Amino acid sequence: MSLIALLKKQNKKTLFTTPSHGQKFFIFNKLRQFYKYDISETDTHNPQEALRKAEKRVSDIYGTNHTHFLTNGSTSGIIASVLTCTNKGDKVLIWRNSHPSHLNAVKLAGCEPVFYDLPTIKEWGIPANVHPSTLRERVDMPCKKRELSNSKEGTIKAIIITSPSYEGIVSDIKSIKETFPDAYLIVDEAHGALYPFSDKLPQSAVNIADFTIQSLHKTAGGLNPTALLHVNCSLDASNALNMINTTSPSYPLLASIEANINFLNSKKGRKQIDKLIENIKSLRSQCPNIQFGGDDITKILIKKEGLSGFELSEKLFDLYNIEDEKTNEISTMLLCGIGTSYKKLKKLFSALNKL
Ligand SMILES: Cc1ncc(COP(=O)(O)O)c(C=O)c1O
Repeated sequence: MSLIALLKKQNKKTLFTTPSHGQKFFIFNKLRQFYKYDISETDTHNPQEALRKAEKRVSDIYGTNHTHFLTNGSTSGIIASVLTCTNKGDKVLIWRNSHPSHLNAVKLAGCEPVFYDLPTIKEWGIPANVHPSTLRERVDMPCKKRELSNSKEGTIKAIIITSPSYEGIVSDIKSIKETFPDAYLIVDEAHGALYPFSDKLPQSAVNIADFTIQSLHKTAGGLNPTALLHVNCSLDASNALNMINTTSPSYPLLASIEANINFLNSKKGRKQIDKLIENIKSLRSQCPNIQFGGDDITKILIKKEGLSGFELSEKLFDLYNIEDEKTNEISTMLLCGIGTSYKKLKKLFSALNKL
């Protein structure tokens, strides 16, 4: 039975349990639906068992060893991954400008961060992808061998890569894995949750890296802050997740994850992703005065001759009320997701054509 179906099956018992609202309207009338499905893990329908089965079904869809549903964002998946594959004192290779959760994870695990820097793609003003040689420079640095580390890569126990980057730059995860086969590879794919569902998008890391973390809420239509942690090695991340997560998970959010993946994996969902890509492709081709960049077409990375990235961003906002996701001196990025309609795209591209 799906988690949604389980939640819809109303309890006939009189529950003297948490949550105190008893699945009825209590404070905010508009949240009525939400209350109805907000049960506790001790509910008589055994939602924990339903969750285990739902995670197994989703893991089969992705072809992973295990996929965990996260209701505290990719942040929690990144922290749990590092806690799972390291011991106190290990060294973890992280990008100096990564999302704060990477360094926080390393600190919480009692590990030592070894930072790598990424060159800037000058034509776009954004960080380049991660190349094995960039990591090799740091891995080869002389450092004390630690007893707890069984990595052949000196003392580096785990490597964290962000791919795609915010701006849609993708790294070759396969070659990084092949270059460092004995270090645990954690891929922050927070911005790439659509990748497993279209071969027109870059390759996902879910079947390559040891741990891949994806935010469903960023591009895949999920509710804030739903996310997934895919485990592709023999380690079990459950203990680490239990350590950092509440013991009262939100079943409405967990059920929404199951529904979200079922949709992405359905014919309709895949078609919707392909439609988004087609729409962007066709509108791009009618926009000759703008230069497009990046590896992921759904992150519309643009620049225009004669305008800085900041000026382009300002014009879009001031003249057309269009807000971008990220801007630098040279370029501007407008983020799209499964819910980005043709109408919305048309508005953006007609504004770009008028500029
Ligand atoms: C690259 C990257 N990784 C991880 C995260 C954390 O994701 P979440 O908000 O799902 O916890 C973010 C959030 O902005 C991000 O940009």
